[in-house]
Amino acid sequence: MLLARTLLSKQRQYLNIFSMSRHLSIDASPPPYNGPWDRLDKEAFRKSLTVLGARVPPEKTGAFLKTLALKDCIMDLPKIRTVVSDSSVPDGERLVLLRVSNQADIPPEARQFLDREAKGFVDHKIELDYNYWTADECLHAFLPEELRDGAPNGFAMTGHIAHVNLLDEYLPYKHIIGQLIMDKNKRVKTVVNKLNTIDNQFRFFKMELIAGEPDFVVEHHEADCRFTFDFTQVYWNSRLHTEHERLVEMFKPEELVADVFAGVGPFAVPAAKKGCAVLANDLNPNSAKYLRKNIDDNRVTELVRVSCEDGRDFIRASVSRVFDEPFLAYTGPKPSRMQEERERKRLQKLAAEGKPVPVSDPVENGKPPRRAIAHFVMNLPDSAITFLDAFRGILADDSRNLSGEYEQMPMVHCHCFTRELDIARAEEDIRQRVEEKLGHPLGNEISLHLVRSVAPSKEMYCISFRLPREVAFAR
Ligand SMILES: C[S@@+](CC[C@H](N)C(=O)[O-])C[C@H]1O[C@@H](n2cnc3c(N)ncnc32)[C@H](O)[C@@H]1O
Repeated sequence: MLLARTLLSKQRQYLNIFSMSRHLSIDASPPPYNGPWDRLDKEAFRKSLTVLGARVPPEKTGAFLKTLALKDCIMDLPKIRTVVSDSSVPDGERLVLLRVSNQADIPPEARQFLDREAKGFVDHKIELDYNYWTADECLHAFLPEELRDGAPNGFAMTGHIAHVNLLDEYLPYKHIIGQLIMDKNKRVKTVVNKLNTIDNQFRFFKMELIAGEPDFVVEHHEADCRFTFDFTQVYWNSRLHTEHERLVEMFKPEELVADVFAGVGPFAVPAAKKGCAVLANDLNPNSAKYLRKNIDDNRVTELVRVSCEDGRDFIRASVSRVFDEPFLAYTGPKPSRMQEERERKRLQKLAAEGKPVPVSDPVENGKPPRRAIAHFVMNLPDSAITFLDAFRGILADDSRNLSGEYEQMPMVHCHCFTRELDIARAEEDIRQRVEEKLGHPLGNEISLHLVRSVAPSKEMYCISFRLPREVAFAR
């Protein structure tokens, strides 16, 4: 996120110090930091610059700024006004600020023009402070020279939390880095440093607070949905938002989706918002807790059923569960809050006027209820493939007429990692592992999508395939 800003600010630093010719230089970089090292002293960033201001009648300032002779001579520091009023002559002249502190440094062509058109020169003081510079500029002033090049230049945002991944050599400066991120980014209230790679069963990060409030319950927005969760207790990765969108886009509103590793709902909630019925499962009780909250907050309570069990048990039980207790049919887009309110008022008015009030039929409108799962989503890339044997025999149930419901087999969207960087070899590797677990070759309906590169030699993929009939009905 910060990368673009970093590049910009690097460009800016470059401009501030170097872009002007030797005599036309103003060093507007922050002063070398000489405050305490255990906390950030904003006062240590104060700096005064004195530049020359050319006295100009107000009506002439526009022409001055456009004059070719002054092109390289006029001051153009970011966030600093180039034309200011001359405090020594109230209501009178303006000062056009120049990039020099001494008259001797004005280039001859510019000097000729100014001698002719301006009414003399005045020293003008510019005060720069901590607020003037970007986080990167302040960080560069703060860090020892040998650490400047590789200085952390990015952070990710989840709700109000900024998270960084600091290398060991930057740990002594972690609180300063955190403070800078917080001061320079209004939305950030808490800054954490991720302590290690994900290593626990529930896939969330261990983290330490480096600045701001110890408040880890975030409200994050994705796909027009509001997600609340405790970032220290559940899995969330904002980088997956396009993958969430990609799969949800595939689902039709009338379909039934089973999310085996649902987390706090980034597939389940948007899918339900578009009309899908969803079985959403996660073994982490905290994920299930926030998943329930997110379902309620996004007003899709009737469309999502939550369970908190092992993915293997969930896969085995989901088919019969939803067969026995189907979801209502899809009846079209859900009205907005405003539409609901308008309809409520309309019915109220009819009743008040003694007119007949139409009774809406919330049930099905003649369409059959939803009892067949169209998609299984399995986003646990580390091990989802190892759960695939749970699909063997899920439809081989003599007590229910499942074959009648499943004229078409469900699609399985299974996320996984591979060390194969070549797409053909990645496909071969993934396909082979999937078929081995299913105990059967895959059919023609199969596609592979590269989700992201997680490390230089590790890619995350999603393989989507139609569950082979022989697997689903295996005895
Ligand atoms: C990589 S996260 C994905 C969460 C969510 N689908 C997303 O895209 O953000 C995997 C989820 O699987 C859950 N999980 C891990 N092992 C599980 C298991 N054996 N059964 C069910 N859920 C499990 C974790 O708690 C975690 O929320």
